[in-house]
Amino acid sequence: MRHRIVLIIGGGIAAYKCLEVIRRLKEHSIDVRVVLTKAAQEFVTCLSVSALSNERVFTDLFDLNDEREIGHIRLSREADLVVVAPATADLIAKMAGGHANDLATAVLLATDKPVLIAPAMNPKMWSHPATLRNVATLKQDGITILGPNVGEMAERDEIGPGRLIEPEQLVAAIRDHLAAKKHSRTTGLDLNTRALVGKHVVVTSGPTHEPLDPVRYLANRSSGKQGYAIAHAAAQMGAKVTLITGPASIPAPQGVTIIAVETAEQMHDAVHDALPADIAVFAAAVADWRAAKVPRDKIKKTSKKPPTLKLVENIDILKSVGTLKSGRPPLVIGFAAETTSLLTNAKKKLKSKNADLIVANNVSEGSDVLGGDHNKIHIISRAGTDTLAKMSKTDVAEQLMERAANLISKAKAPA
Ligand SMILES: Cc1cc2nc3c(=O)[nH]c(=O)nc-3n(C[C@H](O)[C@H](O)[C@H](O)COP(=O)(O)O)c2cc1C
Repeated sequence: MRHRIVLIIGGGIAAYKCLEVIRRLKEHSIDVRVVLTKAAQEFVTCLSVSALSNERVFTDLFDLNDEREIGHIRLSREADLVVVAPATADLIAKMAGGHANDLATAVLLATDKPVLIAPAMNPKMWSHPATLRNVATLKQDGITILGPNVGEMAERDEIGPGRLIEPEQLVAAIRDHLAAKKHSRTTGLDLNTRALVGKHVVVTSGPTHEPLDPVRYLANRSSGKQGYAIAHAAAQMGAKVTLITGPASIPAPQGVTIIAVETAEQMHDAVHDALPADIAVFAAAVADWRAAKVPRDKIKKTSKKPPTLKLVENIDILKSVGTLKSGRPPLVIGFAAETTSLLTNAKKKLKSKNADLIVANNVSEGSDVLGGDHNKIHIISRAGTDTLAKMSKTDVAEQLMERAANLISKAKAPA
């Protein structure tokens, strides 16, 4: 099936880059209907946009023909995705305020589809408190913000955040979103229900690195793929997502706030700083122990015996959140990675950590879970155990977030 997007081009100096975006999207067999704001028509012409998109270009809210044939409601609903690039400071402000006094803003207010925006403006405009406030509002509304990149501006001698993300980055993000929609079809789930709009989801992911000295550390084989997929699925469903990740070398999901940490202690602090949340998912493989003492200098190899490693227990992050007396997220989900007695151990964990769900997975050698692309999970709650078939980590993430959205709709708001 061919996908279709509506691309709203705002009146910024970077508007010309969208011609390249349209060309690349067409190469990927994605149909593009373009709305040009009045200001955008000062930067690119309807003629060039129309020639590249192979469609007529939409400019006017009050075009009677359009309202009879294809008005703003149809434009916004017949697309799989609405993209704004460049999103000017002015357009962002109007979106945050819920304006609908031209075709672009009317489409954006009327749409029931996911919205991606790629801001581009002068760094001073981007860092102005008004713009920051408006961008925060859009994130809360479930809108995905792509960029801006940091770099040189059109204005001479100005460098900073404000450059439109590159056409290939924008096209990749659009394809990613459209592909996620396809994924949901494989699990029978519709991620575009936006069931998590207005919710804050905190996800931990990846391994932790516990230093032994300035150059060595204790780690594990976690890749972070499962946690990243969960963060991505939650963002797709409209949540504001904070992803707290240990060291990982996989591409970051779009549209989530990423906090990079190294040690269990840092992850614990970052999680508590990120609260309150509606849902907290602890998918990270946190080290149970750390070195009791970390010397300032590298431990030297001597002719004597190898050094003895004295370990102390790390703080239990899942338990510290599950047992919070105030500000406990209404839905706390832990992961149990076990190599023996999987279900027995996972059920114990549900109780001892006061979690609402435990996702149990077998990480024994040959299971292909740690570092792999697939997972076979059991979801344990006080009501019982659900065993899912082996599936991709993306599908696991979607199933889990769908379940979380159902549970959260019945739970209390965070304190
Ligand atoms: C030469 C020129 C370049 C501009 N570039 C930008 C820009 O990169 N980002 C931005 O937010 N506004 C920029 N503006 C200001 C917008 O064009 C102006 O705020 C306009 O009202 C935006 O309308 P629109 O958001 O409906 O397209 C620029 C204006 C001029 C004259």
